Amino acid sequence: MIQKGERVRYVIERMTMSDVPRVIEIERLAYPSTWPPSAYRKELQDNRWAHYIVLRDKHVTEEQVALSQQEPEKPRKSRLFPLSLLTSRPAVTAPPADLASIIGFAGLWLMVDEAHVTTIAMHPNHRHQGLGEFMLMSLIDIAYEIGAKWVTLEVRVSNYVAQNLYRKYGFREAGLRHRYYSDNQEDALIMWTDEINSPGYKQKFQALKATLLDKIDEP
Ligand SMILES: CC(C)(COP(=O)(O)OP(=O)(O)OC[C@H]1O[C@@H](n2cnc3c(N)ncnc32)[C@H](O)[C@@H]1OP(=O)(O)O)[C@@H](O)C(=O)NCCC(=O)NCCS
Repeated sequence: MIQKGERVRYVIERMTMSDVPRVIEIERLAYPSTWPPSAYRKELQDNRWAHYIVLRDKHVTEEQVALSQQEPEKPRKSRLFPLSLLTSRPAVTAPPADLASIIGFAGLWLMVDEAHVTTIAMHPNHRHQGLGEFMLMSLIDIAYEIGAKWVTLEVRVSNYVAQNLYRKYGFREAGLRHRYYSDNQEDALIMWTDEINSPGYKQKFQALKATLLDKIDEP
């Protein structure tokens, strides 16, 4: 079930078209290469098998609103993201509060009874707090909702952080796709869960979920 409500700080929502500019900003910070900007729009508009989410930190919104109320005359400064400094991309102005509150995103496709995780990324300033895990957990919840039996993904062989996260959620290596990533010809590990409706997986998932929600569900 997707976590929603007024009490919790971190909220998962379905990605909408208006979220896409912020999603692209985070993607540029998270990945060595990025999808074409039109890809998310196509996914959201044309792919009925695609499910994309964003993670919002409601405190970001509250802090920004409080700040703008204290200093109403001060013009908003433009803000450069670190990766923008390394490339020829133009400076990015600070996004409005509702977009700035988006700190991560993720998605999957349903292919028959398999949920394929297509992307998962946290803004670098918000990592190591269990929030990438919260998004993966939300994707697996979606996989249950849409009737998937297994969850699968590809991950760079060098991406130990993501692999650790996936292993925690029962993903296991099932093969390699050679030179899968076109930017550096890196191989991809193919990972699969067990059948997510098996009693063993369900029990493990529910236990992980309870622990994680306790950790991040701060007022
Ligand atoms: C992968 C990613 C989403 C993880 O997000 P995160 O919010 O930092 O991760 P979490 O804090 O939720 O950590 C969850 C688990 O991930 C693993 N993990 C996270 N950071 C780690 C690190 N520095 N070293 C090793 N494992 C790590 C651990 O298994 C951790 O569980 P634990 O806390 O019980 O040890 C984030 O690093 C990211 O956006 N990376 C760039 C994009 C990317 O590589 N996406 C995956 C593409 S396949």
